[in-house]
Amino acid sequence: MSKVIYIETYGCQMNVADSETVLSIVQSENFGYTKDILKADVIILNTCSVRDNAEQKIWNRLDYLKGLKRKNKSLKIGIIGCMAQRIDRELLENQTVDFVAGPDSYRNLPELINETDIVPKVCNVEFNINETYSGINPIKTNENISGFISITRGCNNFCSYCVVPYTRGRERSRDCKGILNEVEYLKSVNCKEITLLGQNVNSYICETEKYPVNFPKLIELTAETIPESRIRFTTSHPKDLSDELIKVIADNKNICNHIHLPVQSGSNKILKLMNRKYTREWYLDRINTIKKIIPECGLSTDVFCGFSGETEEDFQQTLDLMEHVKFDSAFMFKYSVRQGTYAAKNLPDDVPEETKIDRLNRMIELQNKISLQNNKADIGKTFEVLIEGFSKRSDDMLFGRTQQNKVVVFFKKNVTKGEFVKVKITDASSATLKGIII
Ligand code: SAH
Ligand code: SF4
Ligand code: F3S
Repeated sequence: MSKVIYIETYGCQMNVADSETVLSIVQSENFGYTKDILKADVIILNTCSVRDNAEQKIWNRLDYLKGLKRKNKSLKIGIIGCMAQRIDRELLENQTVDFVAGPDSYRNLPELINETDIVPKVCNVEFNINETYSGINPIKTNENISGFISITRGCNNFCSYCVVPYTRGRERSRDCKGILNEVEYLKSVNCKEITLLGQNVNSYICETEKYPVNFPKLIELTAETIPESRIRFTTSHPKDLSDELIKVIADNKNICNHIHLPVQSGSNKILKLMNRKYTREWYLDRINTIKKIIPECGLSTDVFCGFSGETEEDFQQTLDLMEHVKFDSAFMFKYSVRQGTYAAKNLPDDVPEETKIDRLNRMIELQNKISLQNNKADIGKTFEVLIEGFSKRSDDMLFGRTQQNKVVVFFKKNVTKGEFVKVKITDASSATLKGIII
């Protein structure tokens, strides 16, 4: 009988998309799939290395899986994703781990899994600059109305703190035709929202067409292919966010008015040490241009405190920038040294842990205040909302998102998941809007 696979996904949306690719690969080799960990013959953890606590989660999970393995001697455990690439040897030394596969070797997974019957430890962490998994339609593992498509893999930016270029390898763009085929596939399975993914989608380029297809062109083609659905994208590097893209968003009704633009810091000194290749002034100019061309645009960011050399004054500049831009939401972190990066080798981790925690708390407090203000300003306005499902709190309530990526909760009436409704906002907290269908 064929083996049954269970897969658990950690980290960013790229990993979510990769897990779907992995399932497609193993299913085409006749492996089964289960959502019940206790029914699995093979458990795969698709892992993240971006901060130390992301890796810590996996070590803890392996402790739990050790117990399952004791009860089921034939159970195999595999680690894939960024952590597999970064610390393959350390993982293989762990008695619970049977196989390890890096992000470029998923096509070999069926073979690797089968080999675990013959040899105790199996590993493939070869980089393959040509691997874009073209021709593989990811298998959606849930009934969500949204789908992800990776359009680029890897990263060439080498921000000094970041491990991604080392775990994902060099940047490469997928063939435009393959992407549009996947868009057609998602359309055929009734997908209502597509998110185009890459570490920096703005550097997408496909040279195999008559004319080079850049990101603004690709997103426009996507929007035309699936006109009844919403299109989102993430992530944009501020240094490469072009006016052309902002105009394409403004001109296409189904490309969502939302831009996630990670700023990381508001201090020019820190941005330079981070090798972000833009200044505070450049970033603010991009924000001004967005606000001018798309006045209703939702804005979110990634930002972290406690990087090497960050003084209270530098940190104040980050708070000041957050206050100035008034992001609707932000992913906020404290600096975590990643071995192998430029910063780990050359820049001291010199902000004390208590200071990092204190700054992170102040950042979160400020952002909560801004989110609340922004959300309160939406009271009385009407938004188009794509319904995603029932609210966690009550079966009488549905939830969905506005184009700006804000979550809205409302009484259900005669509508269901996957439909677009107009909702008038009646109340707001820092995290959600409440409204009524009109
Ligand atoms: N490619 C995306 C982000 C990828 S990682 C981009 O460039 O925007 C997601 C976020 O994790 C980053 O934006 C950054 O805010 C944070 N991050 C990355 N490395 C980190 C580190 N060593 N310590 C703390 N946060 C980090
Ligand atoms: Fe990391 Fe920078 Fe690449 Fe984003 S752009 S993945 S932060 S190196
Ligand atoms: Fe994590 Fe790798 Fe994504 S390090 S954030 S899973 S690219």
